[in-house]
Amino acid sequence: MEEKIIGLLKRAQGYLSGEEISDSLKISRQGLWKHIQSLKEFGYDIAAVPHLGYRLISSPDRLFDFEVTLGLHTKILGRKILYFDSLSSTMDTAMQLGLKGVSEGTLVLAETQTKGRGRLGRIWVSPKYKGIYLSLILRPKLSPNQAPILTLLTAASICEAIKEVTGIAPQIKWPNDILVHHRKVGGILTELNAETDEVNFIVIGLGLNVNNEKKSLVSGATSLKEQKKENINRLTLLQEILLRLEKNYLTLEKKGSRPIIDKWREYNITLGQRVKIYSQREHIEGEAVDIDIDGALLVRRDTGLTQKVISGDVVHCR
Ligand code: BTN
Repeated sequence: MEEKIIGLLKRAQGYLSGEEISDSLKISRQGLWKHIQSLKEFGYDIAAVPHLGYRLISSPDRLFDFEVTLGLHTKILGRKILYFDSLSSTMDTAMQLGLKGVSEGTLVLAETQTKGRGRLGRIWVSPKYKGIYLSLILRPKLSPNQAPILTLLTAASICEAIKEVTGIAPQIKWPNDILVHHRKVGGILTELNAETDEVNFIVIGLGLNVNNEKKSLVSGATSLKEQKKENINRLTLLQEILLRLEKNYLTLEKKGSRPIIDKWREYNITLGQRVKIYSQREHIEGEAVDIDIDGALLVRRDTGLTQKVISGDVVHCR
């Protein structure tokens, strides 16, 4: 109901009488008053003037589920949203939901995380109301070894959304670091629940430094605000990310990996570079020459041999 009231007030661009609102939503005037009170508690500034009605003065900078839904043009992703003011990690909640069988596209959103996880056991610093911290549950018809393409798809979709909403030109460092001017602004973590030859579900986690202040950023990181020198609308950015992700996900289903890889290439800064890759098993050095159809990096070693790398931490040497 909150979503509908906010929707009406936003569209009205002025006062809307209590009668008009309650009639169109088929609720009592007292019911409406209660919903208005709870919206005020959420931080909405709503003027109530006798004989005129209600007017929305300002909305809080929050990613409330009903606000995300309001301007969302997707059919699958984010149609069900679980919003939390604080969570230990959206990944844990999403993995549990995945096991319970929630529908594809279910989105777990948190305004802060007390134990946000990065790749390779790192932590993801998640200051409250500043970034976007989400996990998305997908049920793709892929085998586990094809799953890395979803990381590339997510990275390309985030770059498209950042470019569209902020005008900033982002870059991707293989496989999934989102950079701006060579400093990290976002990261993707994917966790699988799979059988030998089939993915049951996959959780895609995204952490994006949006309005993070300089002092809260770890070394080598940046935020979109720091780059743009102005606050970025997190809601608009999140809706655009979900839209781009869905478009690319449907393309992957219909046309396979090739168009996704082509999009990823537009933003990548790894191919053509001399790289060092640190993985749990080994340390590889050579030239990043290409990626294969599943998103693995192909590295030409100094011996002339080309090696396929599925995961690891990449350092660009020059
Ligand atoms: C990385 O670059 O190391 C990946 C970072 C992924 C962070 C996000 S924030 C939302 C989701 N929940 C987590 O605990 N981690 C991911």
